[in-house]
Amino acid sequence: MQLGGSIVRGGLLVWTMNRKKAFSKFPEMRTKRLILRKPTMKDAEWYFEYFSTPEIVWGGGEPGPKNMEAAREELRRYMIDLYQRRRGFRWIITLKGESQPIGTLGFYKWVPSAGYQAEMGYDLAREYWGRGIMTEAMKAVIDFGFERMELNRIEIYIMPRNKRSIKMIRNLGFKREGLLRQRYFDEFGNFADDVLFSMLRSDWEELREDWKKSR
Ligand SMILES: CC(C)(COP(=O)(O)OP(=O)(O)OC[C@H]1O[C@@H](n2cnc3c(N)ncnc32)[C@H](O)[C@@H]1OP(=O)(O)O)[C@@H](O)C(=O)NCCC(=O)NCCS
Repeated sequence: MQLGGSIVRGGLLVWTMNRKKAFSKFPEMRTKRLILRKPTMKDAEWYFEYFSTPEIVWGGGEPGPKNMEAAREELRRYMIDLYQRRRGFRWIITLKGESQPIGTLGFYKWVPSAGYQAEMGYDLAREYWGRGIMTEAMKAVIDFGFERMELNRIEIYIMPRNKRSIKMIRNLGFKREGLLRQRYFDEFGNFADDVLFSMLRSDWEELREDWKKSR
C-alpha cells in the first residue's frame, strides 16, 4: 500500500479533506461486552472524577485536572477537538447495557505529514482490571486503525514502571523497540523514561485472523 503517494499527488489539503469526509460520523463500535462511543461535554463530571483517581494518574503520568473548569477544557481538547480536527479518535468505553463510562482509548498524533502512523493511549477504571476488557477494546480499535485509518504503524509509549500495561500490549503482539531516556514527564512534572512499543501493519496481518475468531 502506498499511502505516502496520495499525499504527494493530492497535497495535504486534499488529504485532510478526504479524512474529514471519510470520518464525517464518529465511528462508534461494539465488541462482545463493550460499546465504544463518542465523547461529549456531558462526560465532564465523570472525566473530572475518573482522571483524578490515583491509578489513572500514575499510569498515564499526568496530574489530574485541578477543578471542573480544567476538566472541561481537557475533555474538549484531548477528546472532542481531537476528532473535530481529525487528528485522532478517543472512544469512551461502557459495558453493554450500562451507561456509566469505565475507561477510554484511542489514537492521537495522527498528523497529515505522517498519516500512516499514530500513537495509542488507554485507561480503565481499577475495578475492571484483569478481565480482558482493555484487550477486547484494543483489538477493535487496532483493527480500525489499520483497516479504516490505513495506518502502517502504531506506537505506544509506556513508563517502565507500568508493568501491567506493558504485559497487556506484549500479549496483544506489540514489539519493544527501545528505551527513550527522559522523553516525557511523570505526574509530578519530573522527566521520566518511556519504553517505545510498536505494531506494524505486517505484524497485525499475522494476528487478525486469530482476533476475528475470538470476537
Ligand atoms: C493498562 C490497563 C488498561 C490494563 O488493564 P488490564 O485489566 O490489566 O488489562 P486487560 O483488560 O487486558 O487484562 C489482562 C488481564 O486480564 C486477564 N483476562 C481475563 N479475561 C481475559 C480475556 N477474556 N482476554 C484477555 N485477558 C483476560 C488476563 O489474563 C490478564 O491478566 P494477568 O495480567 O493476570 O495476566 C490498566 O491497568 C489501566 O488502566 N491502568 C491505568 C492507566 C494506564 O496505565 N494506562 C496506560 C498508560 S501506558
